[in-house]
Amino acid sequence: MAWACGLGLLLPLLLSVVSASTPGAVVRLNNEVLSYVSEIGKAHLQRALQVTVPHFLDQSGDVLQPTRIQILNVHVTRLHLKFIAGFGIRLLAAANFTFKVFRIPEPLELTLPEVLLADARVALGSIETPVVSTSACFSLVGRASVTDGSNSTSPALLVLVEKHIKAVLSNKLCLSISNLVQGLNVHLGTLIGLNPVGPESQIRYSMIDMPTITSDYISLDVNAVLFLLGKPIVLPKDTSPFVLPPHVGTQDAMATVGLSQHLFDSAFLLLQKAGSLNLDITGQLNSDDNLLNTSVLGQLIPEVARQFPEPMPLVLKVRLGATPVATLHTNNATLQLQPFVEVLVAASNSAFDSLFSLDVVVNLSLQLSVSKAKLQGTTSVLGDVQLTVASSNVGSIDTDQVYALMGTVFEKPLLDHLNALLGMGIALPSVVNLLYVNPEVFVYEGYVVISSGLFYPTSTETAPLEKLRVEQLAAQGTLLPQISRETEAKPH
Ligand SMILES: *[C@@H]1O[C@H](CO)[C@@H](O)[C@H](O)[C@H]1NC(C)=O
Ligand SMILES: *[C@@H]1O[C@H](CO)[C@@H](O)[C@H](O)[C@H]1NC(C)=O
Ligand SMILES: *[C@@H]1O[C@H](CO)[C@@H](O)[C@H](O)[C@H]1NC(C)=O
Ligand SMILES: *[C@@H]1O[C@H](CO)[C@@H](O)[C@H](O)[C@H]1NC(C)=O
Ligand SMILES: *[C@@H]1O[C@H](CO)[C@@H](O)[C@H](O)[C@H]1NC(C)=O
Repeated sequence: MAWACGLGLLLPLLLSVVSASTPGAVVRLNNEVLSYVSEIGKAHLQRALQVTVPHFLDQSGDVLQPTRIQILNVHVTRLHLKFIAGFGIRLLAAANFTFKVFRIPEPLELTLPEVLLADARVALGSIETPVVSTSACFSLVGRASVTDGSNSTSPALLVLVEKHIKAVLSNKLCLSISNLVQGLNVHLGTLIGLNPVGPESQIRYSMIDMPTITSDYISLDVNAVLFLLGKPIVLPKDTSPFVLPPHVGTQDAMATVGLSQHLFDSAFLLLQKAGSLNLDITGQLNSDDNLLNTSVLGQLIPEVARQFPEPMPLVLKVRLGATPVATLHTNNATLQLQPFVEVLVAASNSAFDSLFSLDVVVNLSLQLSVSKAKLQGTTSVLGDVQLTVASSNVGSIDTDQVYALMGTVFEKPLLDHLNALLGMGIALPSVVNLLYVNPEVFVYEGYVVISSGLFYPTSTETAPLEKLRVEQLAAQGTLLPQISRETEAKPH
């Protein structure tokens, strides 16, 4: 009972710790995104504006004559989007509607120009995703012009048909816009989807604040929560919220994504806690390129030769007890690992004899790159690997010689392991299907910036075309990770 009460008191505390220390990222979408959305949005808007028109009741004759009216075509001639500071986005669209009025004896074809003006507020939704809602919408329908069948239409009837159509459009078009926006919200909701980081670990982004909107961009503060076996990973560190300075990265990129130092720390903490960084390096006998046997080691440590006159394979157990430390300096990302290495002899099938253990410090340069919507890394060793003997069952050890051997057997497998792991990448903030295109990575003091174009494969009907375009881009290498010349950093 008492423990349940205690837990009840503790739980809100724990939860507030989680929210206070989740690592931050900032996603800034610039004006270029609106140009892109206007471009790919025309087809969507065109489809959304294909509303159904109820029958027109022709009262000119003796009997009431219901006349079918159909939209033959909607042609969006202009779509313009712009940011409204502190509010959201304004949409201005112009379209030509072509209608067919199924009159007897002869059908009538009409064209009406139409202008749509809508303001949409962008806010923080209840599920911590951006939510767009139309706050004002005006649909202005112009004069109809008859394109076919005018001979047999009386001007009076034309006026009535036009009035009917205008009433329908002014009712329905704004509704279509708001339906389109609802669809967009469903899509934006996928921001909070879980993405795998490793076998048992995941990352989830969510929006934490109202967006900041200026006439040039919309900026979203996004938090990452990293999960290990379904539980959030919490860094025991108090950090102030991450703020992305203006004018970082490439000026005319669609998106500027800032990743805080805290996010890197948390990602490495996750990898360490998950044990993903640990590895065993095993020796084999009768192999010419594998130095891990007791005869090789026995030449450096006489006690090994004495204890193991018969050659035996060695095993290095590499364990990361301490979290790797990523350091972000301008144009320079480094990673420090402090593995504990235990050198064992595979004495029998199941038992291992520990010979000695080493505390290792290795500095790595970290190159970051982005592929699709993932941040990847590759590492290479910077300077010397530092070794100190932590314990020994084989007497005193001449570190210089052992160092030379260990350097040879240890470095490459460690780098291969690490690079395979970091090469899998960690998901960046994104929504379903959205790709980062031509990404460039910049390393700054304490944070990383990704400047990138965005690419969104649109509807199924245009999918083959878009796929082709993606393939073309890939062939040109523009979808592949790019190394920024300035930073030598790859997006990861
Ligand atoms: C839209 O319709 C008007 C009226 O029929 C016409 O003058 C104009 O050229 C059309 N615009 C486009 C882009 O089709
Ligand atoms: C409509 O009028 C035009 C010229 O005034 C004429 O050429 C055309 O044949 C007429 N169409 C019908 C269906 O009467
Ligand atoms: C021990 O390793 C060395 C170097 O790879 C190799 O030449 C030698 O044959 C190995 N000894 C045994 C017994 O496998
Ligand atoms: C990056 O930092 C490392 C370690 O501090 C240093 O050795 C290296 O020279 C630096 N590289 C650049 C390009 O500044
Ligand atoms: C690793 O880098 C740190 C900080 O730059 C430096 O103090 C340390 O000596 C380096 N260690 C090794 C083993 O290169």
